[in-house]
Amino acid sequence: MAVQISPSILSADFSRLAEEARAVEGADWLHVDVMDNHFVPNLTLGAPVVEALSRATDTPLDCHLMIEDPDRWAAGFVEAGAGSVTFHAEAAAAPVRLAREIRAKGARAAMALKPATPVEPYEDLLPELDMLLVMTVEPGFGGQAFLDITLPKIRRTRELIAKHGLEMWLQVDGGVSADTIERCAEAGADVFVAGSAVYGADDPAAAVRALRRQAEE
Ligand code: DX5
Ligand code: ZN
Repeated sequence: MAVQISPSILSADFSRLAEEARAVEGADWLHVDVMDNHFVPNLTLGAPVVEALSRATDTPLDCHLMIEDPDRWAAGFVEAGAGSVTFHAEAAAAPVRLAREIRAKGARAAMALKPATPVEPYEDLLPELDMLLVMTVEPGFGGQAFLDITLPKIRRTRELIAKHGLEMWLQVDGGVSADTIERCAEAGADVFVAGSAVYGADDPAAAVRALRRQAEE
């Protein structure tokens, strides 16, 4: 399992997005949180900003859609340049069709689960996905405390991936930091989103390297 780090631009300075995107060169992905003020009580950015970010950095974009009706909007984020598009299980009307559409358009397809959403009902759907995202906070805001109650679900998801012999990645997002990343890695996560732990650091690129070292231990 190769460790990947995906810094979340949500914790960056939005007045300097291009520079902030380039401040984490060496990261595997740049995580872009799209919020619609309906699925979550916060509003961030849409496909035009994703398109601008894709021109500002060579780091591939990992778009996390915290929006209602992702069935309607996800393809537009692939067209805007996302290399990976994550929709929420709680919001998708037709997750299999949606995952196939994202893949057909040329991006990796991923599905996210809020902390209280179990993974078991989605076991048969896993082969349709390139990544499963287990949220480790309630989605909506950066800088929240990591929820330890999500660790058993990370473990169960890793077991299901192994049981089916899948290549898919297991991402964690929310409260991931020097204090919590080892717990996540030990439970079986291999893709780590970190917002405040990276952009709150004096040297974001060094923070990415430090998180990677910790996760690899
Ligand atoms: C929260 C977002 C996260 C957020 C993580 O809803 O999905 O990606 O930016 O921020 P930290 O790492 O600060 O918890
Ligand atoms: Zn996110």
